[in-house]
Amino acid sequence: MKTGIIGCGNIADIYFSNSIKYFNNFEIVACADIKPEASKHYANIYNVENLTIDQILNNEEIELIINLTIPDVHFEVSKSIIQSGKHVYSEKPLSIEFHHGKKLLELSRQKNLYLGCAPDTFLGAGIQESKKILSNNKIGNIVLGSISMGVAGHEIWHPNPDFYYQYGGGPVLDMGPYYFTALVNLLGSAKNVYSQSRTVYNKRVIGSGERKNQQIKVDIPTTLVSQIEFENGTLVDSFFSFDIWKHNKNHIELYGDLGSINIPDPNTFGGSIQLCTEKNGEWKTIETNENNLGKINVENSKKTNEKPGIANYRGIGVSEMVDSIKNNRINRCNGELSLHVLDILDTIIKSAKEDKKLELRSSVSAIEYFSEEENFKLLK
Ligand SMILES: NC(=O)c1ccc[n+]([C@@H]2O[C@H](COP(=O)([O-])OP(=O)(O)OC[C@H]3O[C@@H](n4cnc5c(N)ncnc54)[C@H](O)[C@@H]3O)[C@@H](O)[C@H]2O)c1
Repeated sequence: MKTGIIGCGNIADIYFSNSIKYFNNFEIVACADIKPEASKHYANIYNVENLTIDQILNNEEIELIINLTIPDVHFEVSKSIIQSGKHVYSEKPLSIEFHHGKKLLELSRQKNLYLGCAPDTFLGAGIQESKKILSNNKIGNIVLGSISMGVAGHEIWHPNPDFYYQYGGGPVLDMGPYYFTALVNLLGSAKNVYSQSRTVYNKRVIGSGERKNQQIKVDIPTTLVSQIEFENGTLVDSFFSFDIWKHNKNHIELYGDLGSINIPDPNTFGGSIQLCTEKNGEWKTIETNENNLGKINVENSKKTNEKPGIANYRGIGVSEMVDSIKNNRINRCNGELSLHVLDILDTIIKSAKEDKKLELRSSVSAIEYFSEEENFKLLK
């Protein structure tokens, strides 16, 4: 499928290179950006057409556009893609406003077009193998869980980190999509949220680039601690922070009535799962780096010199969506899922602001296991 990209910044490179290296069913033929020099840069490297936004939207050859702009404009850009009659796949989050995400889902349905959204890391072996373990009832009924993401702040490495500390930024909207997309895949829809928040530092100091040592103002909460109840009854404690210098917490742990599972970083495709099925027993480690997408890592590593387990398959969600379009079925990184995830993120922030427990406004159908065979089919 002929594909275009709007938004040619940091993350664009991996979409261009992976489309060439891995996937057999979509081809990036053109790109555009509000900054013409940004799209020119990638057009030259990857030998694709450098178009204006209007030209890419009106190009009849292109059936799908990947939206890699900043979160603040995801809604406007995705809306214009759908209105131009093309399928859209957006980077995360779907939007920074729930009502805008809802509008995108409605519009795509009205126009009979596919709406996809990152992250697609949950299609990797780390989360898919965990899903298999849970559906095989290895730890029984899941009753409790704990998720955690804590860093000292992106201003340490990002040369223009202002947006992380303004409305639409913060640790939940930035990193929450990875955790909640994985959790919703494993547990189903969430039901309600209660959160509290803190802003530990009122100012941040930029650590790199031309603005090094410049101070920026913090306008939003930088730590959000929440309790999230899922429709299946699971109660999850959730911790997202840009205020933590160092910690030893795990990314995602789920506790069932027959055992516990420690699930790898949902921002990667592989990792080690730990499983314990005896009261107070030992962890058993299950490596996923040589499974599923990890197994393909091993094969590709011969060609590309990548180390198994650290390869980055971003774009697999686009490829899976193209395959879904061709076979007339629902894609896994779909609009309903990303809207529900956005609902969770937005409700976490609102609940802290209003200091009360809030019900979610959406739910999502179960997302099917992504098998190795389906995965292989998409690869070169
Ligand atoms: N950088 C990463 O490591 C990373 C990782 C995962 C996901 N993401 C997500 O990818 C998206 C992009 O992030 P990034 O780091 O590449 O940002 P970036 O700022 O490097 O690039 C964004 C690009 O979008 C362009 N743009 C902005 N508004 C536009 C508009 N209205 N129309 C057309 N182009 C417009 C900008 O000119 C810029 O070139 C974000 O949603 C982010 O959450 C980034």
